[in-house]
Amino acid sequence: MRGLPASFYLDATRAPLEYSAIFAPSWQFVCHVSDLPASGTAVRFDCGGRSAVVLRTKAGGLQGFRNACRHRGARLVDGDAHTGLAFCIDGRLRCAYHGWTYDESGALVSIPAGQHFDEFDADAHSLHPLHVAQWRGLVFVAFQTPRLAVEQVLDVVAGAWPDLTSMRRVIEPRATPCAADWKLACEHMLDTAHFDIARPALKPRLFAPLIFEQGEGDALRATAEVATGGLGDTWSSRVYRRLLHDRQSTPARAGYVYLWPNLLLQLAPDGLSILQVLPGATGHSTLRELRYAAVDSSREMRLLRYTHQRVRRQALAADARMLVRVQRGMGALGAAETGPIATGEVGLRWFAARCRARLSAPAPASSTRTIRSRSRRRATSSAAT
Ligand code: FES
Repeated sequence: MRGLPASFYLDATRAPLEYSAIFAPSWQFVCHVSDLPASGTAVRFDCGGRSAVVLRTKAGGLQGFRNACRHRGARLVDGDAHTGLAFCIDGRLRCAYHGWTYDESGALVSIPAGQHFDEFDADAHSLHPLHVAQWRGLVFVAFQTPRLAVEQVLDVVAGAWPDLTSMRRVIEPRATPCAADWKLACEHMLDTAHFDIARPALKPRLFAPLIFEQGEGDALRATAEVATGGLGDTWSSRVYRRLLHDRQSTPARAGYVYLWPNLLLQLAPDGLSILQVLPGATGHSTLRELRYAAVDSSREMRLLRYTHQRVRRQALAADARMLVRVQRGMGALGAAETGPIATGEVGLRWFAARCRARLSAPAPASSTRTIRSRSRRRATSSAAT
């Protein structure tokens, strides 16, 4: 099997098809349930040209809507789209533009006095609902109906994981801009061949290289034991491994789940790390990083988390540098084919096959470009005659 053509990482006209065929019907991680601690709080989440608002209702449930007013389309909840930090909306979403107000069910409940419309039906102007689901404390949203419920996907690959509901945020979430296409960043998370080549010289490692196992469809899983030291080892990685070694007699392990198309979960002894790749303009993406852990303020656990986070920060910076290098190489490759994917690269082969299946239809904007170029040719030839 060959890798995706270089044009998949370079062609701006592919973005609308990727957003509608891949991102819209997929489960996207929004936040942890503890990020919506009380009724009347809401979180904004943007992905693939769409924006969602997820809020906690008075009854304790979660509701999701398109983050757009039904009047003139203004964004309802503004502010950061990637931190998962909650805004207080007091159970009501009031548009900042002309003051239309919606309740927690999305119903339009008030319009400021003086605004009159012909044959106006308030019921026809409720917010557009979105699919919202929880899996063991993690909150997901989907902009279109996904093929399977999120628990149907994740239970297959992470059925043995504990309930994560009692966890709490342990770092400030980070959104790192990356000058590489989102597919390159996702493939980098799934690529195992680069660990022994690129990584030792670039960054320390806490867990051994992953070998992904094929799941039933929308997710992969992997398990890795704590690594032994090596080139690129740092004080943080040495202390982390020593602390884990002292804590338990059996080798420490981390469980990994990759959820199609862009999410990697790592459950280590000191907590849950989340890395999500969000698409941006052509050749750009955002690496969203969040960490949650069980409440444990012992000195040992704080040191474990501190050293883990230091290593992750170094690793993410090294990953971003390598991704820029690959993106630039793709640009130089141009129309040429990329090479084969090794038979052992289960994750990469899975990802490429899925991208090909979903993006096999020509991108809508390509045909527009062809029509435009034909019109231009016609205009040029008429001008010439
Ligand atoms: S756009 Fe929201 S009230 Fe006008």
